[in-house]
Amino acid sequence: MVKSLEDLKRLKEEAQQSLALREGGEKVKVVVGMGTCGIAAGAREVMAAILDELEKRRLTNVAVTQTGCIGLCAQEPLVDVYLPGRPRVTYGKVNAQKARQIVAQHIVNGLPVAEWIINR
Ligand code: FES
Repeated sequence: MVKSLEDLKRLKEEAQQSLALREGGEKVKVVVGMGTCGIAAGAREVMAAILDELEKRRLTNVAVTQTGCIGLCAQEPLVDVYLPGRPRVTYGKVNAQKARQIVAQHIVNGLPVAEWIINR
């Protein structure tokens, strides 16, 4: 049971260590589509939610960048996740809430959220 701030800190450190181990020192990469249609569809909110979630979890080994239009308007906002040594996973129609879940489930636990993945 978590009893104190110390316990919380320790738990957090353990979680970070296991993430770092799984990555083998390599960075996780997240790319958000910020073309015109991405932004129109809410990509800014998605980007903000990802950054906020990473900060809350103190995940410093994740690089978040943006890209322009990739020609998939209908699926915007788009988010690509690259875990080291794994193929790229692209999510479509992401919103802030989905973005937070992608951070928790895919980036932290290594389990892509199958139902939101699109082929590109
Ligand atoms: S303007 Fe929509 S994908 Fe480029």
